[in-house]
Amino acid sequence: MLRLENVTKKYGKFIAVNNLSLEIEEGEIFGFVGPNGAGKTTTLKMIATLLQPTSGNIFIDNIEVSQNVKKVRGIMGYMPDFFGVYDDLKVSEYLDFYGDVAGLSKEEKLQVIPDLLELVDLKNKKSEYVDSLSRGMKQRLCLARSLIHNPRLLILDEPASGMDPRARVQMKEILKELRRMGKTILISSHILPELSELCTNIGIIERGQIIESGSVDEIMRKVNKTNNIRLTVLDFTEKAMKLLKEEPVVGNVYNDDKSIEFNFEGGDKEIVYLIKKLVNNDVPVLSFKPIESNLEEIFMKVTKGDEE
Ligand SMILES: Nc1ncnc2c1ncn2[C@@H]1O[C@H](COP(=O)(O)OP(=O)(O)OP(=O)(O)O)[C@@H](O)[C@H]1O
Ligand SMILES: [Mg+2]
Repeated sequence: MLRLENVTKKYGKFIAVNNLSLEIEEGEIFGFVGPNGAGKTTTLKMIATLLQPTSGNIFIDNIEVSQNVKKVRGIMGYMPDFFGVYDDLKVSEYLDFYGDVAGLSKEEKLQVIPDLLELVDLKNKKSEYVDSLSRGMKQRLCLARSLIHNPRLLILDEPASGMDPRARVQMKEILKELRRMGKTILISSHILPELSELCTNIGIIERGQIIESGSVDEIMRKVNKTNNIRLTVLDFTEKAMKLLKEEPVVGNVYNDDKSIEFNFEGGDKEIVYLIKKLVNNDVPVLSFKPIESNLEEIFMKVTKGDEE
């Protein structure tokens, strides 16, 4: 659905996006993650036909973007990270205006606008001035605007930035609804735990380059060569620890009341063996499960951060 081939963007001598390649399949929710200044907005703007790459190509549905701006804009909806001021426009007038821009007929607008207001939960605000809306509401309105022509591909640049936790949850629910509707979504964010729940795939970008990409699980596996496991026992904590420490696949073992945590380098077979060993030695095992490291930790591990 979306393909970037060796895309580079220079601002003067500064390379903001560096030979970046990326492919997103239909129906994927791709989280584009990276620290400030990594090149996320620049990349998204190029996809949205608002910036020309210095070199490289971008394809949407196999259509080269810069050669077919009009066609591509019909397939894609773009929500920018910042949006401008609204002079004396009411919410419904605002969407009406963008409906006109998208070339919708009066009848189409009459159908689409109430649906969109419903989707972004602004139905009871339709007669309010846009300026009077809260930040979260403005962002939802902006999302509605990017959906007005029913695009199949959505490019969302930090749609939840600056929102309070409640507003974030609401935005996430809307995005899940869009996922159910079968939209392909490319979403940028610094807020990783949110993306892990929403996205099918993640790409981590730093200094204009993708440094890791794949499904959330794949990235975790790549980064986490060793696993951490938490074992809970009803009794015999000391004995369990001793049994674990005998095994070469087990690293550091910590005791935290009735739960034991340890590093583990091995596969499924070794896990089965460890559980058997514990049980055969009469350790009352209550649970045995890997501790998932969250995306935030992975992100900190993979990105070096901008030191200068
Ligand atoms: N118009 C411009 N002229 C010169 N440099 C620019 C311009 N726009 C962006 N840059 C630079 O390009 C780099 C990437 O910026 P970009 O806005 O794409 O990052 P980002 O990943 O979206 O960051 P953030 O998380 O802060 O939104 C930054 O170093 C930025 O200073
Ligand atoms: Mg940005």
